[in-house]
This record gives sequence, C-alpha cells and structure tokens, in this order.
Amino acid sequence: LRQIFLTRHGESTDNVLGRIGGDAPLSPRGKKFAKALARFIKQQRLAFALEMVRAASNSQFTVWTSMLKRSTETGAAFDPDEYDVKHIRFLNEINSGCCEGLTYEDIQKAYPEEFHARQANKLYYRYPGMGGESYIDVIHRLQSMIIELERMTQSCLIITHRVIMRILLGYLLDWTQTEMPHMMVPIHTVYEIRPKPYGTELKKWQYIE
Ligand code: G3H
Repeated sequence: LRQIFLTRHGESTDNVLGRIGGDAPLSPRGKKFAKALARFIKQQRLAFALEMVRAASNSQFTVWTSMLKRSTETGAAFDPDEYDVKHIRFLNEINSGCCEGLTYEDIQKAYPEEFHARQANKLYYRYPGMGGESYIDVIHRLQSMIIELERMTQSCLIITHRVIMRILLGYLLDWTQTEMPHMMVPIHTVYEIRPKPYGTELKKWQYIE
C-alpha cells in the first residue's frame, strides 16, 4: 500500500507577471506554498503510518464468541473497529436437550435416572431430547475449531462456555478426556495459553469487583 499525491509548483515570479514558459524562481507566495506542502506531506505520511499500524493491529486480534446471548453480549464490549469479532455456533454451550433451562436440582427431581446416569459417566452421557449432546459429542464438534485455532497466526480471545472451556483447555493443556468434565473453570476468569517448545504455559487472571 502506498500514497500518491500530485500538485503544481508554487507560484513563480513569472506567474505573478502572467508570463508563460521560461525558468523563473518561486515568488514569496510560492516559497510559502513549498514549505506548507512539505508540512502537509509530513502530516499525511504520519497519518498513513498510523493507519497502517492500526489496520495491521486490527487484523491481528480476533475475538470469537459463541452465538448465545451471554457470549455475544460479552463480545459486544469490543470495538469492531479495533477487533475482528466473529460469532461461531461451534462455540455454543453443550446442548442439554430436555434439561435446557433446568437447575441440577430440577433435573434430579424430574429425571432422577438421567441425573444418576450422567453422574456415573459424565463424559459419554448424552442429554435426551432434541439436539441433546454429550461431552464426547462436543469434543467432536470442536475438532475443526481446534484445528483453526492451531492454524491461525493472529492473537485471539475466545468468549465461550464452561463445557467448551473444559474441552479447549483440556486439549491445550493435555488433560485426559476423563478429567475434562470435572475441571474447575469459574466465570470471570481469563486464561492465557502460551505454547512453549516443551508444553504449554498457562496464566490465569481473576476479575475482582
Ligand atoms: O450449562 C452447562 C454447564 O455449564 C455444564 O456444566 O457439564 O458440569 O454440568 P456441567
């Protein structure tokens, strides 16, 4: 990317006298114009450089959220002029089928067998009802996201949900599949992953009100 400017010369002494052709020097007004032009170009170059830095940094930080309100609304705090914000269905929370919207207490009361079946094998247990998923199902649907995450060179922030966090962190930090469903991943905590030649470094920040 480059800038292209065009201008006529500053006023010449021949311009003042209405003469064409020749090889006259600049008039005092022409000299002022030349200085003003140099200042103007300097400003434009600076503005351009800042624009480039801004454009480069914009394209270098992606914010991915799921398509659920609690996640898109968290992502809405990021200025789209500064961040490349994308909403991705794959990052949605596990679908709890017939148990969507219930508390664990409600589930225990309404579907005691389901509740116990899940406790017995949280990894493979699939919620009954429309679209119900298991952790294993979610692990599969996240495969393409994990590949994309490893492939991309940009920095990013992923705003997602507990089960997705357990799986993504689990994958990045080498947790076993059996461990994943039981890991503590509290809200209002930011995790930073830094791949190192041997293993992955993890940093955690907790938001304190
Ligand atoms: O909304 C879903 C919950 O965060 C899932 O957590 O797998 O420990 O029941 P859980």
